[in-house]
Amino acid sequence: MNAPEGTSKFVPKQALAPTPQLYDELVGDSMEQLAKASLAQISPIPFGSVIHDNGCGTGAGTAAVVEAIAASKAEVSIKGTDINEKALEVYRKHAAENKWPAEAEQMDSLKLSIADNTFTLTIGNAFLFVLPNDGIDAVKEMYRTLKPGGKMLVNSWAYVPNMEPLQTAAKATRPPGTPLPREGMAKWAPADFVQNVVEKGGFEKDKIVMKKAEVYCTTTELTHFATMLWSFIGGTSEVGWLESDEANWDKAINVVKEELAKTDGYKAIDGGRAQLKFVANIAIATK
Ligand SMILES: C[S@@+](CC[C@H](N)C(=O)[O-])C[C@H]1O[C@@H](n2cnc3c(N)ncnc32)[C@H](O)[C@@H]1O
Repeated sequence: MNAPEGTSKFVPKQALAPTPQLYDELVGDSMEQLAKASLAQISPIPFGSVIHDNGCGTGAGTAAVVEAIAASKAEVSIKGTDINEKALEVYRKHAAENKWPAEAEQMDSLKLSIADNTFTLTIGNAFLFVLPNDGIDAVKEMYRTLKPGGKMLVNSWAYVPNMEPLQTAAKATRPPGTPLPREGMAKWAPADFVQNVVEKGGFEKDKIVMKKAEVYCTTTELTHFATMLWSFIGGTSEVGWLESDEANWDKAINVVKEELAKTDGYKAIDGGRAQLKFVANIAIATK
């Protein structure tokens, strides 16, 4: 889910194991809030929609679809696909517990085993930026599998409050010049970048609408949140974890916490938790 760029095997003893369950706890409601903000751009979801939740992970996009159709009781069918079988196990559990009209199948988004012109709506929630070639090859597959007139909904973060705190922690605890985690994410912030990926994936320029939306998300208790963040992302630069990260662990966590509290939109709430503001770029493209 957060693939390291390097080959180093060392992991500090304090680092929490990056399981799909920990990922769910870390992202909290942020993925679902992002999916909701994205779906709000095409509301209401029509009856009979045939929906693809591409790179569905544990199901945030599907949960947002199900919530969006709760009032209208629109009948839809949803296919969740992801490359990560462990995430799909969690997706299937959520689907069974919440009676989602959904099925899940392991599939590489770069080579979907799905016929042309199948879906009326394809969602890639927090998805393109984890893929090779900036997700262009996946967009081509989404275009191919959409029916004419069907819509694709993809998004990226224009602003995330947690990236700078992580990079400040890395700078404060590692030798100067050490590559920073997630440096490659900055290019996704301008809406033009996302629009360009969608165009290169085959959608016509005048059939792409770009929107921005603020998304508010709730953290867990802050020390635990900072520990999850650092565990997931601290070791993902090309050099991975450094052996010195073990001795510097508490210092890094404190920097992450202090810097988070300085970010735009940060609000402390009960239980030592916080509300954080994110800003999303949303592309709505029609085939
Ligand atoms: C940031 S997560 C977002 C998951 C989900 N859409 C959500 O909103 O929570 C990115 C997802 O993309 C999946 N993924 C990465 N590469 C993939 C590929 N080549 N094909 C399909 N899924 C992929 C990962 O396994 C992960 O579940």
